[in-house]
Amino acid sequence: MCEIYNPTRSKVHQGVLVRADWGEVMGGVDSGPVTIVRQETNITSGIEVTQKLIHAAKTLASILRGTLGPRGLDKGLYKSNGEFAVTSDGARILNDLLIKNPGAKLLVSLGKSQEEIIGDGVTSTVLLAGALLDEAGRLIRKGVHPLTVIDGYLRAADVAVSVLEKEAIECSIDDDEMLQHVASTSLGGRSAGSDTKFATMLVDALKQVTHETENGTRCDAEDILFDKLEDSTIGDTRLLSGMFWRKRIPMEQMTGIRKNVKVTLINCDIKQREIIRDLEIELQSAEDLAEFMQIQKQTNVDIAEKILATGADIICSSGDVERSILHQLAVANKVVIHDLDHKQLIHLAQASGATIVDHFNDLSDKDLGLVGHYEGERWAATDEVQDRVIFDECKGPIVTILVGGAMGAEETIRGMYDALRATSLAITDGSLLHGGGSSHMLAAKFVIMESEKVADRTRLGMEAFARALEMIPWMLAANCGVNPLDALLELRSVKSEGKNLIGVREDGSIGSVKNILEPAESLLHGIMAATETANSLLRCDQVISARGD
Ligand SMILES: Nc1ncnc2c1ncn2[C@@H]1O[C@H](COP(=O)(O)OP(=O)(O)OP(=O)(O)O)[C@@H](O)[C@H]1O
Ligand SMILES: [Mg+2]
Repeated sequence: MCEIYNPTRSKVHQGVLVRADWGEVMGGVDSGPVTIVRQETNITSGIEVTQKLIHAAKTLASILRGTLGPRGLDKGLYKSNGEFAVTSDGARILNDLLIKNPGAKLLVSLGKSQEEIIGDGVTSTVLLAGALLDEAGRLIRKGVHPLTVIDGYLRAADVAVSVLEKEAIECSIDDDEMLQHVASTSLGGRSAGSDTKFATMLVDALKQVTHETENGTRCDAEDILFDKLEDSTIGDTRLLSGMFWRKRIPMEQMTGIRKNVKVTLINCDIKQREIIRDLEIELQSAEDLAEFMQIQKQTNVDIAEKILATGADIICSSGDVERSILHQLAVANKVVIHDLDHKQLIHLAQASGATIVDHFNDLSDKDLGLVGHYEGERWAATDEVQDRVIFDECKGPIVTILVGGAMGAEETIRGMYDALRATSLAITDGSLLHGGGSSHMLAAKFVIMESEKVADRTRLGMEAFARALEMIPWMLAANCGVNPLDALLELRSVKSEGKNLIGVREDGSIGSVKNILEPAESLLHGIMAATETANSLLRCDQVISARGD
């Protein structure tokens, strides 16, 4: 099926069409329609495309609306594999939705980029992009050209970013109180957000892992490990200055608590070298056999003595340990943990300051590390290894948060991880903005003021941008159950009086948000990324679908 393409008409085309009058333009020879794509290809053009994309993006954003802020509710995600999860984390919701619409997919990519680069603020960013598209859709329906809207959005985003950059307050790694506010703002609405102990714990964890490297100060949430403690409650969550392993403890006498112990890390089996070629040993007498066995035994004794000579109290190995060597080390009151993976060795090396040696022959006391507190616990064996090994009170820059609570521990970890990312960004970037919608309102106020100086239609785009920014405090208020219109009007009025630290508080009232702090980069990146995504959708005036939908 072929039709003539009329760019002025908004229409869905099937198959491929090319202008019949091109021939006329090119000298009066009409070469007729030419097919360049498959018959089932669908081409949607003009304003219809923009409106369809906008509608899809808005619909996606509306899924996240109810989750925003400390009083946002969770979503239950029932996946195709039968798994059920409850979460309010924007990144997780977007990740688990099987989106096929191109407009909605762009918003999913926006959320992913915010999550990857910042680690928090996904919901706000996607909502802002949805609001920008919603406002743009209204202007386009009234006859404003999409490029005019884009120009207005770009101007407004510049104003918003420069206002917020000026408004940002400084923060350093020593500002414990401020950092705790950043952590608790990010935790708001999550299971770990209810208790200030978690924010304090996250700041402590980050401070412990922050250290100087050749490339400058490193403060990275990746250096904080998480593990779950199923048989406890969320209140039992604690920070270990070291690590937690679920590893078989080979002997009962290796359990219990030991203080200030030296560890050695060996990256091989602790046993005699295996003979891999076929070998025949001819023994003439029973004495020869006894001598042969004795040599074998002595070699094992030598290996054990070599290890004991280092003065190590805990021997960790990535491989297997010969039974007689294990026994000899146990008799000497040493602890042996074996079959560790390389990552575990690296982590303990970082925590204790030990050096990993590739063979026990190379061991020396200089390679030992120090652990302040060792705790080994043997549990009744099941199919899984239940024994627990704790290394605590280590001096190195790696820590573990043990999260309690059988139900929802994963969601707690996710919330804590986001908060760690936000707080580490606050430490490395050193600048903060106030949350609760106050920064968005401030930016909106300045965008409106700036738009009043603009005499052309770009002004409409700027005003639309300001309204989109106001959607954040609107949703925060709505999710608290208060009337969002009243909240917004009150906020506009206080902002006009120059009260910048006023926003939507946790109970929905309009008041001081002095202690609601977010890394400035999270808001700025969110605003810029949402603007870019909205603009790239608005630039699109034709969708060519090879799938025919
Ligand atoms: N105690 C609080 N009072 C008022 N507003 C708060 C409070 N805590 C957090 N907020 C606000 O809630 C918003 C963040 O909510 P939320 O964490 O649900 O979404 P997000 O950070 O944008 O996305 P996500 O966490 O899903 O990546 C921010 O605007 C923040 O300022
Ligand atoms: Mg958040």
